[in-house]
Amino acid sequence: MTAAKRHILVTSALPYANGAIHIGHLVEYIQTDIWVRFQKMQGNQCTYVCADDAHGTPIMLRAQSEGITPEALIAATDKEHRADFADFSIGFDNFHSTHSDENKELAQGIYTRLKKAGHIHTKTIEQAYDPEKEMFLPDRFIKGECPKCGAEDQYGDNCEACGSTYSPTDLKNPVSVVSGARPVKKESEHYFFALGDFEAMLKDWVNAKGHVQTEITNKLNEWFESGLQDWDISRDKPYFGFEIPGTKDKYFYVWLDAPVGYMASFKNLCDKSSELNFDDYWAADSQYELYHFIGKDIAYFHTLFWPAMLNGSGYRTPTGVFCHGFLTVDGKKMSKSRGTFIKARTYLEHLNPEYLRYYFAAKLGSGIDDLDLNLDDFQARVNSDLVGKVVNIASRCAGFIKKKFDNQLSANISEPALYKQFTDASDHIAALYDKREFNHAIREIMALADHANQYIDAAQPWVLAKEDGKEQALHDICSMGINLFRALVIFLKPVLPKLTEQSETFLNIAPLSWQDVYTPLTSHKVNKFKPLMTRVDKDKVAAMVEASKENLDVTPTKKPAKDKKTMDNNELIDFEDFAKIDLRIALIKKAEHIEGADKLLRLTLDLGDETRNVFAGIKSAYSPEQLEGKLTVMVANLKPRKMKFGVSEGMVLAAGPGGKDLWIMEPHAGAQPGMKVK
Ligand code: MSP
Ligand code: ZN
Repeated sequence: MTAAKRHILVTSALPYANGAIHIGHLVEYIQTDIWVRFQKMQGNQCTYVCADDAHGTPIMLRAQSEGITPEALIAATDKEHRADFADFSIGFDNFHSTHSDENKELAQGIYTRLKKAGHIHTKTIEQAYDPEKEMFLPDRFIKGECPKCGAEDQYGDNCEACGSTYSPTDLKNPVSVVSGARPVKKESEHYFFALGDFEAMLKDWVNAKGHVQTEITNKLNEWFESGLQDWDISRDKPYFGFEIPGTKDKYFYVWLDAPVGYMASFKNLCDKSSELNFDDYWAADSQYELYHFIGKDIAYFHTLFWPAMLNGSGYRTPTGVFCHGFLTVDGKKMSKSRGTFIKARTYLEHLNPEYLRYYFAAKLGSGIDDLDLNLDDFQARVNSDLVGKVVNIASRCAGFIKKKFDNQLSANISEPALYKQFTDASDHIAALYDKREFNHAIREIMALADHANQYIDAAQPWVLAKEDGKEQALHDICSMGINLFRALVIFLKPVLPKLTEQSETFLNIAPLSWQDVYTPLTSHKVNKFKPLMTRVDKDKVAAMVEASKENLDVTPTKKPAKDKKTMDNNELIDFEDFAKIDLRIALIKKAEHIEGADKLLRLTLDLGDETRNVFAGIKSAYSPEQLEGKLTVMVANLKPRKMKFGVSEGMVLAAGPGGKDLWIMEPHAGAQPGMKVK
């Protein structure tokens, strides 16, 4: 283990700045953090950077709906994200933002170089446009009926009901999620990055050993086979992002400047540090290592666009892109209604973050399989491994060391063979961490913890403590126990930084490094032992799930406390859902009885520039005369419904239980027919 010091730059994907960090994200940040902590313990120069991904349409619209600027929104989120990460001990060396000067300069620089080299060209394309909001609509901001199976309320790119994919222009009865308006087609000039220019380079990069996992190599080879398409890197205004140099009102698509955010965060760190030099890590001929940890959903961006962009603009390419799978909870996708969409903050309000770090470590391998947080297993595992095995060794021995030996450890390592089992395992465990086989490493460490406990069980210090003349034996056994505990803490340090810190305080030692396992503590004074970790409390897990059911708003900053009734779980909708309902002021031009209908009145509604025929079930409460000439509120984008007496083209809103007790909505004076209610 005397390899020369490595220089490693590590990133996790940049979380979007329009939502809270949740336990799904944490799979990635915890995985990366464990790896980085391990590398640092090895004495390598390892630097971990991240940033908020602050640009794009969703962030722009969210800020609008909250009535604040995007800058204010991303500043608020930045604060929340930093606090969440810090409390989970995610030890970034720098956390920055893609909405930064460094990123602007780097992104524009990369673009300019790509353009000069002939990799950028323009094409006029036709896209869905919201005529009311005056903006082009990304696929996920259009909904309609699936062209294949007819399922309603499907997004613009794929159908959740039948799984087919299509283009938003194929949707039937499409609506803009932003305004409810029917999108029109509109042309605009877009900028494209010629990914195909990099085919040979990418094939070489992908198939060279170690850059990506086997599963991803296979996926990439499929992508190569189906041909590398030009990548649309521009967006029209209004957009929250960086303007493309030399254009007017064209912005970089968020995914163009997002990965550049890795460089920008590192640049920002270099400017503050005397040890790190940007070019050492990013120059085309850099021999330093660069790794990106990402979820498998964003592999395309990181294994095709990103290496191509870097290569085309004269930078180095990544040494490795490490994909992980997705988190499920109790075997299912995280769900707000089940209370398993658990935000980092909600978790922290109920449970010790190290439980989750340990559980994820115990489950994470180097592959891209999804992993499940089974809440019962989580409790059982943390309690039996961490509390029952690891912490237990220390608490079984520390009492005697204090009471009988004034906190002084014995001068002997009385069981060198047993201790050697631990040191012998060290290289293997290190190799497993390095390969990201954390689950396997944890298995090895827990097997050692079992040996340590078996040793104490057999030696029975509590019996010796009551016998005369057994002081030396007792001292040796308990000191041995403390040293075995210390070795386990060394091996677990990348996973459990807080438990390690408390243990270092108890052991009265400097921060542990990996090599320290070879030098056990003898004739050393420890500090008073304080309990290191308590058991996972079942009620707290239940309370966390309960709190997640209520806790549905993604940025808790704005929303006022709500009436319990409307807060009920799955009944909550997003603003976008509400915005889909096109509510309009309507003038009741005519109200008539219908022959043969005993509940319905026929209403002729004036919407300013059109009239609608609506059948309303309000005959029990109103006579036609009471209604004519009055204003009311109608749902104007309800699908027309064929009824016995004709087609109903909308719905008027009324309150009350029914019968005589029914009251239709009426706006205050001044509202005009056709006005949108929002
Ligand atoms: N902003 C982009 C990344 C840009 S990187 C240049 C993004 N952000 S994200 O907030 O949606 O996701 C951040 C990371 O968390 C991604 O790697 C994503 O795969 C990961 N995860 C998000 N939800 C997850 C789970 N449920 N499970 C595991 N990882 C998850 O994508
Ligand atoms: Zn369908």
